[in-house]
Amino acid sequence: MSEPIRVLVTGAAGQIAYSLLYSIGNGSVFGKDQPIILVLLDITPMMSVLNGVLMELQDCALPLLKDVIATDEEEVAFKDLDVAVLVGSMPRREGMERKDLLRANVKIFKSQGAALEKYAKKSVKVIVVGNPANTNCLTAAKSAPSIPKENFSCLTRLDHNRAKSQIALKLGVTADDVKNVIIWGNHSSTQYPDVNHAKVKLQGKEVGVYEALKNDSWLKGEFITTVQQRGAAVIKARKLSSAMSAAKAISDHIRDIWFGTPEGEFVSMGVISDGNSYGIPDDLLYSFPVVIKNKTWKFVEGLPINDFSREKMDLTAKELTEEKEAAFEFLSSA
Ligand code: NAI
Repeated sequence: MSEPIRVLVTGAAGQIAYSLLYSIGNGSVFGKDQPIILVLLDITPMMSVLNGVLMELQDCALPLLKDVIATDEEEVAFKDLDVAVLVGSMPRREGMERKDLLRANVKIFKSQGAALEKYAKKSVKVIVVGNPANTNCLTAAKSAPSIPKENFSCLTRLDHNRAKSQIALKLGVTADDVKNVIIWGNHSSTQYPDVNHAKVKLQGKEVGVYEALKNDSWLKGEFITTVQQRGAAVIKARKLSSAMSAAKAISDHIRDIWFGTPEGEFVSMGVISDGNSYGIPDDLLYSFPVVIKNKTWKFVEGLPINDFSREKMDLTAKELTEEKEAAFEFLSSA
């Protein structure tokens, strides 16, 4: 057995964490022989709920869990971390302006970024889930200047999985038979789900999704809006936002960082742009196709981009640029 790794989940009393903590604890994320010290952070008013989650984790009797620590103090939560999964954020309340929501989240992620800088290992991998996920991730990265910015990523894997599944459902195959879909941009309704480079396995043969479906109008219309609006559709139906599927996507995202992506496959994640890839401006936390090896991601290079895609990729970049500018204003005044 190797040394235990220290993994933090914030928003640990919330609904995503309720599914996620079990996956982490049972070895589905870091492997069945990786012991874990699990750290749970939530805000002070949630401590009694968090204590209930702690009791349940203890009652699961999971052999890989060497310790579980529940706290409302950043100093305790961020100490010596190998992995930080930042799920907790300020939710949008009725009547709340987008700007006010952004301001509240800049405050949270500035503070947590500074705590990462001060207390975590420099090798820590940081995954941001709490919305607005891309900009929260950028805020945290900017607030932790001594941690490599490549160690920060935000979750667009749920959108990626949704896109895979919509294609699979339409073709009557399983999600596993579909690969290399891409989510470009923001984890918001401007994201662009792109299947121009995606492949599907049909009767043992790999074919392009456009070729397999022969339904360009669906792919360029309803498919895109279904993926973009899926989060809202789940809220409408369940009266709660996606939690089981979000936890599954977080597990997929972290497992790929830890173990790498399979040969010939790429995945989508929000990472820092370098100004040289796909015409996206420098220093945006934008969702790209990436491959991962030795816990390090690389852009998938050289995919041809048609005019239809270009327009959609630029639109979501524009939204992210605006979000970034507003966040940086708050960051300097916070
Ligand atoms: P939830 O409301 O059930 O739980 C959030 C938890 O975070 C609460 O327990 C709250 O007290 C806590 N929290 C708030 N501020 C905190 C802070 N400063 N430090 C630590 N904990 C804090 O929400 P749920 O459903 O678990 O969702 C969490 C976040 O994930 C939301 O922002 C949601 O919009 C986002 N989300 C993102 C997705 C993505 O694909 N990027 C997918 C689904 C949800």
